[in-house]
Amino acid sequence: MHIVGARPNFVKAAPVVSALDARGLRQSVVHTGQHYDDRMSAVFFRELGLPRPDVDLEVGSGSHAEQTAALMTGLEREFIERSPGLVVVYGDVNSTLAAGLVAAKLHIPVAHVEAGLRSFDWSMPEEVNRRLTDQLADLCFATSPEAVGHLAAEGVSVDRVHLVGNPMIDTLLARLDRFDTAALRERLELPESYVAATLHRPANVDDPGIVARLVARLHEVADQIDVVMPVHPRGRASLTAAGLAEHPRVHLLEPLGYIDFVALVRGGTAVVTDSGGVQEETTILGVPCLTLRPNTERPITITHGSNRLATDSELPGLVSKILAGEGIDTAALADVPPLWDGKAGERIAAVLADWTSGVSAPGANRGA
Ligand code: UD1
Ligand code: UDP
Repeated sequence: MHIVGARPNFVKAAPVVSALDARGLRQSVVHTGQHYDDRMSAVFFRELGLPRPDVDLEVGSGSHAEQTAALMTGLEREFIERSPGLVVVYGDVNSTLAAGLVAAKLHIPVAHVEAGLRSFDWSMPEEVNRRLTDQLADLCFATSPEAVGHLAAEGVSVDRVHLVGNPMIDTLLARLDRFDTAALRERLELPESYVAATLHRPANVDDPGIVARLVARLHEVADQIDVVMPVHPRGRASLTAAGLAEHPRVHLLEPLGYIDFVALVRGGTAVVTDSGGVQEETTILGVPCLTLRPNTERPITITHGSNRLATDSELPGLVSKILAGEGIDTAALADVPPLWDGKAGERIAAVLADWTSGVSAPGANRGA
């Protein structure tokens, strides 16, 4: 039983579901309803070939405690009713941890896809979610070698850990011929050159003082090149209140579907983001990525990709350097991360198929 709830979950789950399907394993998909707008949820099911969820718990938004409690209550009911043989969770959102906690206490084995990433920044809700989920998981699927190291350092038994590559990159590579930037530009009447931006981390969009500073910097970027930003609902009110749209070269959009969004990123002169997934996608697309964060749980996108951490005050200067054709101190695709080759879903399915046929004993390794 796959548990998905938020935008990045759908992109990661699609190749795993499809690879398990090809092997004929029986599966179901539970949508928690953490994200619910058509553009944050249903569009991904339409575009990525995910099966319609067997159930939508419609948990919706709330404080961390409210949302996590509602997720746990809904998932517990579901797990008891359907008795899944294994629960598969993705990434680091509240739905991920809630499912892990409920499953572990019902003695249902848990597989965590994208295990072992660490920002070492406990102020991020995602760091709490991913660390705890890894402790609860029977199977940890890692996207990069350093994630395997983190799990080992935290005492996770090596038998539980599988380095499989990155399913989010499977989704990208399988659709490379569908990302048509020219068509998107024409349809949305976008300029030819632009910086694509996306922001939703609480540390960037929740505090009005921080948002005001960020908006001023984005306006300095827009003095140099158009900025196109599909706005995540979390930052909609604060960015608007701070006057982000009040620059003639800032183009604010609704959140885009996956195909349109990656087409936008692919055609960008650069990307400004605080998204986890976008750091990975730009690594493969080779688009310079300025990550507005003090840290990243995905350092491989810096050492093997086109990503660079930046403060808001560095942003305008870094964009001018990119426009001047100067380097911005990234590895810029010297070699892509190992196993980011489009086959992560198949590797995960192979491990799960062995596991379900009894090669590994359920629950035997948890808590090592
Ligand atoms: C969540 C994840 C974050 C992930 C992001 C991906 C947690 C703690 N955070 O953050 O790790 O990077 O998803 O996008 O799980 N909202 C809508 N429509 C929706 C969904 C949300 O309007 O369909 C608004 C609501 O006002 C809500 C706010 O966005 O309160 C935040 O949503 P929530 O799911 O709690 O967290 P995200 O910031 O989306
Ligand atoms: N994405 C999208 N439309 C958008 C913004 C992002 O389809 O308007 C995709 C993006 O390509 C990536 C995923 O959503 O596959 C990343 O999700 P998000 O940034 O919301 O979460 P994070 O990765 O930070 O957890």
